[in-house]
This record gives sequence, C-alpha cells and structure tokens, in this order.
Amino acid sequence: MKTLSYLEIREKFLKFMISKGHIEIPNSPLVPENDPTLLFVNAGMVPLVPFLLGEKHPSGTRLTNVQRCIRTIDIDEVGDDIHCTSFEMLGNWSLNDYFKKEALQWSVEFFINELGFDISNIYASVYEGDKNIGIDQCAIDTWKEIFKSYGIAAEVGAQERIQPLGDNKKHNWWELESGGPCGPCSEFFYDTGKPKCNPDCNTSCGCGKYTELGNNVFMEYLKKDGNYSKLDRHNIDFGGGLDRYAYISQNTESVFSTDIYLPILEKVKSISSNENTKSQRVIVDHIKAATWMIMDGITPGRTEQSYILRRLIRRSVRHARQLGITENLSDTVATVAIDQFSPIYPKLADEKQQIIDVIKEEESKFKATINDGMKKLDKFIQENNKISGEDAFYLYETYGFPIEITQEILEEKGLNKIDTEDFENAFNSHKEKSRSAAKGFFKGGLADTSEMSKKYHTATHMLNAALRKVLGDHVKQLGSNINPDRLRFDFPNDTKLTPEQVKQVEDIINEQINTGLEVYFEEMDKQKALELAPHSAFTEKYGEIVKVYFIGRGDKNISIEICGGPHVQNTKDLGSFKIVKQENVGAGVKRIKAVVG
Ligand code: SER
Repeated sequence: MKTLSYLEIREKFLKFMISKGHIEIPNSPLVPENDPTLLFVNAGMVPLVPFLLGEKHPSGTRLTNVQRCIRTIDIDEVGDDIHCTSFEMLGNWSLNDYFKKEALQWSVEFFINELGFDISNIYASVYEGDKNIGIDQCAIDTWKEIFKSYGIAAEVGAQERIQPLGDNKKHNWWELESGGPCGPCSEFFYDTGKPKCNPDCNTSCGCGKYTELGNNVFMEYLKKDGNYSKLDRHNIDFGGGLDRYAYISQNTESVFSTDIYLPILEKVKSISSNENTKSQRVIVDHIKAATWMIMDGITPGRTEQSYILRRLIRRSVRHARQLGITENLSDTVATVAIDQFSPIYPKLADEKQQIIDVIKEEESKFKATINDGMKKLDKFIQENNKISGEDAFYLYETYGFPIEITQEILEEKGLNKIDTEDFENAFNSHKEKSRSAAKGFFKGGLADTSEMSKKYHTATHMLNAALRKVLGDHVKQLGSNINPDRLRFDFPNDTKLTPEQVKQVEDIINEQINTGLEVYFEEMDKQKALELAPHSAFTEKYGEIVKVYFIGRGDKNISIEICGGPHVQNTKDLGSFKIVKQENVGAGVKRIKAVVG
C-alpha cells in the first residue's frame, strides 16, 4: 500500500469524484445558516438538506466536496485512536441521480484503486430491516458483486464480510436527530488486524478492531414528527472521514499521529511534563476545533455554539493542568494548529492573531478560577462523597466549570453521575434562559425547512435591504440565525438604531409585506450574480452557477441576494414584522432580533 499524505488523499478524492461527473461545491461555514435546531454542521449533507428534499441545486445532481465538521456527540470518545470533535468529511451526493450500485462501487474503487487499500481488509455492514422496511437486499447483492470482482466470495452474517445490522434503526440507519431526509445506510470498515475483543465482536463494536471509513446513506425517506414516509426521489449521501483514511494509509497508531495532527501533537508533547496520552489528544483535538470555530465567527460564551467553544477551551485548560503545562495553549498549540490548516483555510492565517487572542482571553479567565474551583469541588466530595446538581451549578456559576467538566472529574474519581435534572433546576431557577449543555444540545437535529423558517429567511433578506436604506450601504450580513421564534441578524454599525430608525425599518418592511411582493429566484453564473447582488452574504460557499433570490419584480424589486433558499413565495405570507431586541456583539457589530406574524 502506498503511503499518502492527507493533502494527497483530499485531492485524489475530489479528482476521482469529478471524473465520475460530480461538481465540487465549496465548504460551508460551521454554523448552519437557516437551521434553528442544529448547532454545527456535523456532516457534509447538512447544507444540502433543501436539495435532498427536491429543491434544484444550481450545480446539478452530482456534487462533491470536503466539508469541515464539528461533532460534539463524540466528545467523550476523544482520546481513543480515532474520534475527534472536528474533522473533514469527504462527501459525494446524488440528488435523485445514481443510486446504490454506483455509490458503493465508486467508494470501493476509490479505496482500492486510488488509495491502494487491501480489499481483504474491507468489511461492509448493511441495514437488516425492521417492521416497516425490509432488509437491504440490493446493497447485499451489490456488495457481493463488488467483492467477487476482486476475487472474494463474500458471505452474509454477523461475523461475515457483509454484516446485516439494524436493531430497529440503531445501526445502519442514518438521520439527523429530529428528522429530515434519511434512510438505510451501508458502512465500510477496515480491519486493523487487532484481535477481536470477544467472539461476537463485529463491525458494530467500538473496540477499534474495525475502523469505520465511510458511509453511504440511501436517502429515500423523510422523517417528520417521528414518522417515516417514502420520498418520491432517491438520493445518495456519502461521507468519509479524511483522518481515518490517512490513519489507514499512513499506518499510524492513531489519527493523532497522521500528518493531519502530528505537528500539533508534537507541540503538546514538547510542553507536557508527563505522557498522559488521552490528555494530550484532547488538547490537540479541542484547540484545533476551537481555531476553526473562531475562524467561523464564534466567540466563547454561555449559550449555544459559544458555550461549546467555551467548553472545549476550558476542558483543554484542565487537561493542560494535568499534563503540568505552564505555557498558554493559545501561544503554543493554537499557533501550530492555525499554521497547520492555513493552506486549506486561508482565513485562519488572515485572522491568526485575533483567533489566538480569543483563546488566550478564555484560557486566562479559566486559569484564574480553576485552582479555587478544584479546591471547592474536592471540599464538596469530602463533605458528601458526591457532587449534587446544585453543587455542580455552584461550580459553574462561581468558577466557570462547565457541567461536563465537573462530570468528567467525578467519573475519574469513581463517583456517581451528577443529577443533571437538579443541575437544570438550579440553572432555570437562576432564570438563565439557555439552550445549553443541560438541555442535551450536543446531538444535532433537524435541518429545518419549515414554513416558519422560510418566513424568517425571507424576512432576513428584507431586513438587510431595509437597514441599508435607513443606515447606508455599509450594512451587510455578518451572521444570521433563525429559529421558530425569531430571526437574528448581525451587521456592521457603530451604534444601535435610534427609536426613529427602528420605526423607519419596521415601516418599510411592513409596507412591503402589505404590498405583497413576489419572491422568486433565477440561476446564473457567479460573476453576473455578484454584479447584481454585491452585498450577498457568504458568497464563497456557492459554486460557479448560483441561485439569486429576488423580492419584487421590475421596479418593485427591493432585494437581490445570492442564496440557496428556500423562501416563501410572497411577502404577504409574513403577516407583519417587528424588531424586538438590539444587542452589541463585538467591536462595531450590532445584532437585531425580530419577529414576524
Ligand atoms: N451523513 C452521513 C454520515 O454522516 C454520510 O455522509 O455518516
């Protein structure tokens, strides 16, 4: 087997998929733009949900990219050989174009012909079916043919080369937490050659013998309100972990020793006074994830994405303490992590100092309280032999200990789990209205395309246009977030709006709503689109042919933006518009929250 660098694997994958008729689409920012229920892009398919459901994609029906992802659900596994919270996912998609046969065939062809993996180490799992959906015979037959073409007579069974798994959608069924396009999937694994951990050990076991490399999801279903229905289209959603491919190709002891992470790991080792492998890997992973998140505009804080960032930085500080590290992680590890990924994400290099400063500020804050907090935590344990939910809340409020860090320390001391309900009660009684850890926010959820989200999406375009009219041409979208209760819009401005300006903006939008302007899109090449809509947000994430949304036709036009959609069809659908809150969110950046209906 040839040893390939991760940059070579990345390039080969895109080239291979392009040779199969795919168009490369750009990497999206980590915060989903129009999805209230998902904190981070956790798979390459997230930005594609509307297109998997039938919206026309301007780049066609075969798409590919390498997408940066954050998966906090894996946070507790970080420290083993293969799990990370941030990683790059190699992806290819068929939007109602090719299906199982081609998808599986190409995935294997890439492993074997392009990367030189040994077919005899490849194992496949398929969906075994449940009371509503039958066993995936088509996937089984396809796998058999594929193995046969390489001279392997594959059998089907729990210990065989093709393993049907399911356990009522627990395995080999892929969906976002609360729904959307979904379906059975077929994963492929690489047998690392380690011994089986027990006679039943198979691809569903997490012991590390079988490393999952990638997953083809056969998206033929829609999950809505807990029910499944068949879509009138078939999609493929393939995702493969770039770090896992590098791990196999480079035959390293873990993903952290591949050329993706090695320079960062070496930096951590050089400043550690002991060899705690788990702690070293946690720091490598978390600080790297933090640099990506800050690059995408997140700052540490008490809610949502900001809370996760805070948690990653603070957990790193705690593990640095265990390793006897005295240096700042921001000046050492973060610097190397930024340099490492700058060739792929030039924004890291452009904003290097700001990113380091954000991490430095957060680590200084936590370093100032961690020693006292640890003493208090030990005192709670001495007194009661446990940490109650209220104690955990006290540690959170007074010393800035995210509950998960307290939980981890308890677990290390062999104590019982904290009662998170008690913690939540204490939390709520302090009137912290937060969508945070205590509310199980790490799992991800439905990429939302509800009517309400469409309304808020259209209202966001209208707000952008109205603000430019009232405040001036410097206004542009720096960030946007929608949930079923409100829209949130960040834009550059030195001051908040005066009450008169608020009224002006509201009046403009309400008049446009009452007029009933048509909302529609046209597809065009990016150059033309940028001429028409120079103020469009995040234009770098769209391909060469883009969708441009117009509000109002001809001389009634009030907004033109490059945007993937979806939107309502007429501004009348919004009912009414009102600004409910203004905030400062950083130097020269203001935030507006507004409601419709
Ligand atoms: N969405 C699937 C996954 O994350 C395949 O991309 O595994």
